[in-house]
Amino acid sequence: MLFLKTVIFLQILCGFCFIGLHSKIQHDYNFVVKEAQYTRLCSTKSILTVNGKFPGPVISAHQGDTVYVNVYNKGQHNITIHWHGVKQPRNPWTDGPEYITQCPIRPGEKFRQKIIFSTEEGTLWWHAHSDWSRATAHGAIIIYPKENRAYPFPKPHAEVPIIFGEWWKQDVRKVFTEFLTTGGGPNNSDALTINGQPGDLFSCSKSETFKFNVDQGKTYLLRIVNAAMNLILFFSVSKHNVTVVGADGFYTKPLTTDYIVISPGQTIDALLYANQEPNHYYMAARAYSSGTAVPFDNTTTTAILQYNGNYTPISSPPLPYLPYYNDTQAAFNFFGSLRGLPNKYPKTVPLNVTTHIETTISVNTLPCPEGHSCAGPNGTRFAASINNISFVAPSIDILEAYHYHIKRVYSKGFPTFPPFLFNFTAEYLPLELQIPKQGTKVIVLNYGSVVELVFQGTNLVGGIDHPMHIHGFNFYVVGFGYGNFDKEKDPMKYNLIDPPLKNTVVVPKNGWAAIRFRATNPGVWLMHCHLERHLSWGMETVFIVKNGKGSNETLLPPPPDMPRC
Ligand code: C2O
Ligand code: CU
Repeated sequence: MLFLKTVIFLQILCGFCFIGLHSKIQHDYNFVVKEAQYTRLCSTKSILTVNGKFPGPVISAHQGDTVYVNVYNKGQHNITIHWHGVKQPRNPWTDGPEYITQCPIRPGEKFRQKIIFSTEEGTLWWHAHSDWSRATAHGAIIIYPKENRAYPFPKPHAEVPIIFGEWWKQDVRKVFTEFLTTGGGPNNSDALTINGQPGDLFSCSKSETFKFNVDQGKTYLLRIVNAAMNLILFFSVSKHNVTVVGADGFYTKPLTTDYIVISPGQTIDALLYANQEPNHYYMAARAYSSGTAVPFDNTTTTAILQYNGNYTPISSPPLPYLPYYNDTQAAFNFFGSLRGLPNKYPKTVPLNVTTHIETTISVNTLPCPEGHSCAGPNGTRFAASINNISFVAPSIDILEAYHYHIKRVYSKGFPTFPPFLFNFTAEYLPLELQIPKQGTKVIVLNYGSVVELVFQGTNLVGGIDHPMHIHGFNFYVVGFGYGNFDKEKDPMKYNLIDPPLKNTVVVPKNGWAAIRFRATNPGVWLMHCHLERHLSWGMETVFIVKNGKGSNETLLPPPPDMPRC
């Protein structure tokens, strides 16, 4: 009898948790990729969306959950979807980059993608990973602590995604084909956006500016994503500081600041304390762009922090302070101030490095093909490379070629050291160094290798910051600096105590950054610059991490509905 009572009691309890859980978190999503009409900057055009939304739907989960997304391609072109910053242990199959881990989903087809969350907690995002389709096909991923676990900071009263984007009046597909055809740089976007809106400083936009309502005295969590294509951004809120508590899906030590910097690919969780006089305050973002003679969209996007209450709002609120466009110092003061929360992941910075990799990351030029005219520097075509190899995408994805032993899709032996040594960051460099090789080479890593990877920016064609991103891993940013990496002196200054755990690191213009990670995720994983034009020009390579010995150290089997090439 008592037993029966307990069962009934448990069932009632469970019924409640079930309802409680499912009212907030869903484990199966439908993503319908389709065109939709959107009006911005006084004109209407058709854009690629997920479920007709721009930005797209939010995926929410708890730490450690597994979620499924049914992706239906109801558009006119091939598409893939990537879960940026989700490590997907042993499951590169549904990671998403086209021709790396899958062939694209063709129009009319469907792919059920499994997202395996593990240690990530905070904010990440998803985006299309084919051509330039991610310009409008992207959205936030929110990973809450496990049930009954708390944030490592006071619970905010409410939260809001703040997603930065870029808007072109032109069809983005045209922007993409145009610059790849001419060999020149891509057209700049016409506006930056916050949650899809350019804001008050643009014509026809004022009434639709994104507004966030707050109560005086309460604290809010901003889940910030930079989904822009080609721009690192400064962001700040007029008269308010923010306190950064997380980055790239991991908590950080609280950092209170009057501006943040965020590159494409990065995410930031920041608390905002509504501690000012009730009124309207601008939030604003604009470019951080350090390249000399590199054109960029220099507009400012705004949203409004709107206090609840009875008051007459000021008619034109002042814009917040933002560092100047090329303020590298301001950018790297911010990046350098981020610290991981070591008590959350004790002593996990790997100390015994087994595999040293050093790579140059460069913008390059290729000679113009005979009989053509090219719009790159001095009549060349732009390219970009890692260790002087400009990546050429294969026509069958590398993961399948690896798994089914298909020959001549890729080759091993990507150089793990720069093939030419020169003063990488010198002001003048011989023109012949600008020309890269082209190829589809991968870096093979043994399971469990402890990797230290140094990214060395070069001044070829022109130095600029590169936000480097790796799929399948998080890494510790143990150091960065200006000029050439010095392998004797620079490692002495590494932070091996509390470096932030990231998935995207900004390598300073004419400088370097060093990261460390353990290769305990078997599979095929893309590494690339998250400035979309550099990716399109070939600044990418692939890691193949071999299986380990244990049964949970090997690749999971492919899903039954892998898209076919
Ligand atoms: Cu944001 Cu290859 O990814
Ligand atoms: Cu780059």
